[in-house]
Amino acid sequence: MATNKHRVTTPLAGNRVEFIMVGTIRVSLNLKNFSLPFSTKRNSDTAKPKPASSFRVNQFDIFFNGKRYAPQEKNKEICIEGEKERMILRPGMVLLKKFLTHDEQGWLNAQGRDSNSNSYLSRRVEIVKICRELGLGPGGFYRPSYENGAKLRLHMMCLGLDWDPQTGKYGNKRLVDGSNPPSIPERFRKLVVKAIQEAQYLIRKECRVSYAERILPSMSPDICIVNFYNNYGRLGLHKDRDETPESIQKGLPVVSFSIGDSAEFIYGDHRDVDKAENAVLDSGDVVIFGGVSRLIFHGVSSIIPNSAPKKLLQDIMLSPGRLNLTFRQY
Ligand code: SIN
Ligand code: MN
Repeated sequence: MATNKHRVTTPLAGNRVEFIMVGTIRVSLNLKNFSLPFSTKRNSDTAKPKPASSFRVNQFDIFFNGKRYAPQEKNKEICIEGEKERMILRPGMVLLKKFLTHDEQGWLNAQGRDSNSNSYLSRRVEIVKICRELGLGPGGFYRPSYENGAKLRLHMMCLGLDWDPQTGKYGNKRLVDGSNPPSIPERFRKLVVKAIQEAQYLIRKECRVSYAERILPSMSPDICIVNFYNNYGRLGLHKDRDETPESIQKGLPVVSFSIGDSAEFIYGDHRDVDKAENAVLDSGDVVIFGGVSRLIFHGVSSIIPNSAPKKLLQDIMLSPGRLNLTFRQY
């Protein structure tokens, strides 16, 4: 399942900057063949910087108001309880296919027992609904920029703590508008703990070791970054390294949930797309990377349009694209 064939253009390396702000005017430009005929430098005599709290971000709804395509048969759920794939992608990195269930059947846990009592936690529909609601409120979804003004090719919202893509720092308030990030719902946190336990169980079984915790440590998430990628969404190869040195040194894992359309996820030891490995992350998949894989490069090279499960789209009007939640411990 690991191939090498996919290329991406990172938002930073690409030619196109989609929007910049010149005073209060929003200008779209292409860096390759466009230059501004005037200075964009702020004149400190005439323009006083606004306090962050006076900026407003545009609300972004992950529900779709228009007409969606009729989901095709090929998108129907093919998940059969008890036949879920679990894969060790590399030491400390595990892929749990279809870990998040759609319905209320619950899932067979690693020991083969029905874990129905947890089923309410894992419903993808519930996760989407909660993210939509939080995403429309204060601290909800917005389209962040890098330091050079280029917009990320996704909408983002932080839960627990804010993470700022320009400074790479965590804080209690969002710099762009002074809002406070919503808390991480308890049910999300429980689901993360459960996913790590399931990955550790797999490591114990596959590697015949009793010390799976040393290969993939447990963690209790206090940060969740929720991304929504439309069909043109991307995320260039990067490392998650803005957490505390202790968290990174201990290899406390990043846990990532995918819902909606599938994504081509790339990862590897170098910031080089040609050397990166590739895994398709489908709706319901959870990928975990910790231990010696904590600082791997990773990114999203493309979203596969119309690949979301039919059942999900029947039950919820998720916009075309992919919802991704990544959890970490600061
Ligand atoms: C991230 O690295 O922050 C998100 C990765 C993903 O969308 O799968
Ligand atoms: Mn990341």
